[in-house]
Amino acid sequence: MSTLTRNDVTGRIMVALDYANAESAEGLLKQLEGIPCYVKVGMQLFYAAGPTFVASLKDRGYKVFLDVKMHDIPNTVKGGAESVTRLGVDVFNVHAAGGKYMMEAALEGVDKGLALGSSVRPIVIGVTQLTSTSQQVLNDEIGLAGTTEQAVIRYARLAHAAGLNGVVASPLEVTAIKAACGDGFVTVTPGIRPAGADIGDQSRIMTPAEAFAQGTDYVVIGRPITGAADPRAAIEAIIDSIV
Ligand code: C5P
Repeated sequence: MSTLTRNDVTGRIMVALDYANAESAEGLLKQLEGIPCYVKVGMQLFYAAGPTFVASLKDRGYKVFLDVKMHDIPNTVKGGAESVTRLGVDVFNVHAAGGKYMMEAALEGVDKGLALGSSVRPIVIGVTQLTSTSQQVLNDEIGLAGTTEQAVIRYARLAHAAGLNGVVASPLEVTAIKAACGDGFVTVTPGIRPAGADIGDQSRIMTPAEAFAQGTDYVVIGRPITGAADPRAAIEAIIDSIV
C-alpha cells in the first residue's frame, strides 16, 4: 500500500513462532535477523519454553504478541493478565466469548501489573471468531445462529464496550469492525495467505496486500513464512507485495 513505508509494513507483520521448542524458534529468528517484524508466541511455544523465552525476546528488543487466548473466570484472567504484563509483552489476547466482566478483569490485571513496576502497557486484544471457523462449523457444530460476520461484530462490540484496545479477526471483517467500533480500534488479522500459498486449516483468508488495503493494523503470518524453504525470502516477498 502506497501510504505505508517498508518499515511501517514490517513492524505490522507478526510472525507466528509456532514451534515446539525455543531452539526451533531461534532457528527462524536467526534467519530473519535484522528484519524489524513483530513476533507472536502462541500456546505451543509458550507452554514449552515459557516466560524465560519471552523475557529473552524482550531483552533482545523484539516486539512480542503473546497469543495465549485467555478464557477463564474473571479472577483467574485478571491474574493471568497481571503476570503477562509483568513479563513485558507488547500485546496479549483474551477470548471475547468470556464476556464483558472477564475482559474488564483482564484490564484490571494489566493495571495491577503496571502498579507492580511494569513499564509497558500491553495492547489487549479480544479474540472474536477463530479464522479457522467456517459458517457451517459456527452454525452446526458450535450452535451459534447467524453469519460469521454477525458473530464477529457482536464480539467486537463487546470487547470495545469492555475497554479492550481491539480484536483478532479475519481480514474479511476489518471494514465492518472499524465501522462498528471506530478506526482507532485495533485489528489483528491472521488468515493471511500470499497468492498461491497453501491454505492449510484456515478458512476466511486474504493476501497480505488485500488485508492492509482493508485497513488492518497488524497481520499475523505463520506457515507461509515458517514453512517456506527460505523464510527470509518469503517475508521479503510479502513486504514487497504490500509496499
Ligand atoms: O500458519 P498460519 O499463518 O495459519 O498461522 C496463523 C497464526 O495465527 C497461528 O499461530 C494461529 O494460532 C493464530 N491465530 C489464528 N486465528 C485466530 C487467532 C490466532 O489463526 N483467530
